[in-house]
Amino acid sequence: MTHGTGYVDPAYLDAAARLAAEGKRRSYERLRLSAGASVLDVGCGPGTDTLPLAEIVGPSGHVAGIDRDPEMVAEADRRARAAGVDRRVEHRVGDATALPFADGAFDGVRSERLLLHLAEPERAVAEMVRVTRPGGWVVLVDTDWGTRSVDTPETELERRMAHVLAELCLANGYSGRRLYGMAKRAGLADVTPEALPLYVTDYALWRLLSRLDVAGEEAVRAGVMTADEVRRLDESWRALGEAGTFFALTTLVLVSGRRE
Ligand SMILES: C[S@@+](CC[C@H](N)C(=O)[O-])C[C@H]1O[C@@H](n2cnc3c(N)ncnc32)[C@H](O)[C@@H]1O
Repeated sequence: MTHGTGYVDPAYLDAAARLAAEGKRRSYERLRLSAGASVLDVGCGPGTDTLPLAEIVGPSGHVAGIDRDPEMVAEADRRARAAGVDRRVEHRVGDATALPFADGAFDGVRSERLLLHLAEPERAVAEMVRVTRPGGWVVLVDTDWGTRSVDTPETELERRMAHVLAELCLANGYSGRRLYGMAKRAGLADVTPEALPLYVTDYALWRLLSRLDVAGEEAVRAGVMTADEVRRLDESWRALGEAGTFFALTTLVLVSGRRE
């Protein structure tokens, strides 16, 4: 399939999952699932979360994952088979803004780093609320790329690059800060926000996670930075990496709320 600037591959998602492990663990807790429960992960990618959720709900439970990318769904199915949980985990190709499930079908519904790719995230949240049963929990997790901060002597270039990633490469790059209001406006009760700082000291990992190659091309295409400025910024980070002093920071926001 054709991938837009928002596309990330399974290798990227595996690296991001290791960094966001604590956020994932908390998001499972906030779903308040017990054995035998049914749970949906929207924008499930290669099954990063559907497999751990299958362990939580156990053999009598049911886990569904939905993603618009057929390659992600195929990889998620492959991983579920390899983990021996494919009888209770189902992955489907579909769109977050038109979920192919009945009202109240799930005890819990989550999405992680999905809404930052959507131009109309509230439509997906409304769908997530619709398919959650009354009393069930909805958990939204997203990065807020407005809080991205990376050490460099090239401070002004770093700020411009932060703008490029948040505003030009992503449809909704400030999603994290918007989750709280969105959950309340969607009618959820007991809405609770949490924030987790994520830091990276490995230059190569940061390059991957901040999608510097894509962002650099976009910066030049949009006329926000010259190719030389992109190179200078990257060089400054590479030098810090070689000196063992590279440091980048962003924030993961997690919001949970109960369907009334
Ligand atoms: C950054 S990945 C996150 C994957 C996974 N939630 C995780 O935490 O590893 C975003 C995922 O959302 C999917 N996606 C983007 N827009 C979507 C949409 N409108 N409906 C369903 N899935 C979508 C992408 O294909 C991708 O797999």
